[in-house]
Amino acid sequence: MGRIIILNKDMDKKSTVKIVFCFSGSKGKIDILSNSKKVLRKQDLLKRRKFKGDEGEILYADGIIFVGLGNKKSYLPRFIRKHVVSSFNFAENLRIEHASYDLRMLDDVSLYNAVISLHVHLHETTNFKSSGNSSKKLDVHLLCSNGQNSIAMHAGRIASSINYARDIDNNPANIATPQFMAAEAKSLAKKHGLKYSLIDKKMMRKLGMNALLSVSYGSARDPVLPIIEYLPRNKRANITIAVVGKGITFDSGGISLKPSKGMDEMKFDKSGACAVLGIMKSVAQLKPNARVIGLLPCAENMPGGRATKPGDVVKACNGKTIEILNTDAEGRLILADAIAYAEKHYKPNYIIDLATLTGACVVALGSYAMGMLSNDDELAREVIDASSRSLDEAWRLPLWPEYKEMMKSKIADIKNISGTHEAGTITAAAFLSNFVSKAKWVHFDIAGTAWRTKNIPPVEFGATGSGVSLVVELIMHLSAHRNA
Ligand code: BES
Ligand code: ZN
Ligand code: ZN
Repeated sequence: MGRIIILNKDMDKKSTVKIVFCFSGSKGKIDILSNSKKVLRKQDLLKRRKFKGDEGEILYADGIIFVGLGNKKSYLPRFIRKHVVSSFNFAENLRIEHASYDLRMLDDVSLYNAVISLHVHLHETTNFKSSGNSSKKLDVHLLCSNGQNSIAMHAGRIASSINYARDIDNNPANIATPQFMAAEAKSLAKKHGLKYSLIDKKMMRKLGMNALLSVSYGSARDPVLPIIEYLPRNKRANITIAVVGKGITFDSGGISLKPSKGMDEMKFDKSGACAVLGIMKSVAQLKPNARVIGLLPCAENMPGGRATKPGDVVKACNGKTIEILNTDAEGRLILADAIAYAEKHYKPNYIIDLATLTGACVVALGSYAMGMLSNDDELAREVIDASSRSLDEAWRLPLWPEYKEMMKSKIADIKNISGTHEAGTITAAAFLSNFVSKAKWVHFDIAGTAWRTKNIPPVEFGATGSGVSLVVELIMHLSAHRNA
């Protein structure tokens, strides 16, 4: 696999092709984003070769790959992702050894995203071909100014957590079982000096986690709730943050069986838990001054002789009774017990959860933004800010009492589906709100962003690590803010 090296000086090796971004400028003069005089002198060349700097335009001339970003006014930092990837692929097709990206003129957010995108794009998606991998060979140099160094290095570290989450998530359900997830959480904790504990089936019974347990009744595999804990060195952290991820290792729908078309994609229904693993890896490295607890409720949702049936009623560990009207709305059941347990046991100031929770979220927002719902306006604003810094896009939906009303049951405290097709993402979050008591809480529905079936740069296909960079950014911000 190609390597990525940050440089502060132009190496100007003969074997190195340069990659330079350009805005389409005005009056025929291209806005070349470089501080190299040699590169800036290429205006005439660009004119001769009729390069306009239009979005997506690529010209290779004089050992330089010029990449058009289009009009500066309509440019958005997240667009850098596709341009970084297309220029990488272009350079790789030239069969050269190195390419050197000139990133010195990029704004901080574009730079951060460019570096993450390269790391993510270069990272081979897990495959099981016996013929071996066809990895990308090109080495890239990132030409940064001194001031950009720390951003580029931070981006590299975040990318390694994203790629770690992706690797776990890309495993099929016969490999990534609930037991596999627990073993992974344990080994991550061990590697990074984090505390690890496990709530197993027996303890779940003791604790009354019947919502979580009920999801696994149809499966031959036991549910698990691994917990990873990070404590800051000075142990005087004045905030505690719990991060909960949905870990359904396979979602067949249970007795409310899903149609077979596309059911294979439900191996990615553990993306929330995988994101929590990536987040905890970054937290261990970045050492925020906050206590951070990662909880990964994991189960396999299968039909079976003992499976939960529509109409069954269970009691969660906070004492609330739930009428299960659709066994395919299982994510909220495992989250319910994990969130209620986190509240009771750790008394967190903040609860963050990530889940591939609803198909409705894919309908509402497509594949470009995750859904975000919160019980606290200030926290929601911080999330939006963190989202625009990390470019891990989140869009808020309302969580009003009217929606909570829709989840009331005739025979139990609440039901797990509203019974209409309206506002599916919101009613799912409204269900979860029953298990939050004191904490400021934000819920991310990553159903549309957690994996790709078509190429959306920088991910060609498979798991994306959605939520890792946003939640790490949020945790770092909250811990710095509240401890100041
Ligand atoms: N894991 C699915 C949600 C999902 C569907 C994510 C498609 C990504 C793509 C979840 O457990 C589920 O099945 N939700 C149901 C809820 C419904 C029964 C209220 C859904 O969205 O159809
Ligand atoms: Zn489901
Ligand atoms: Zn699910």
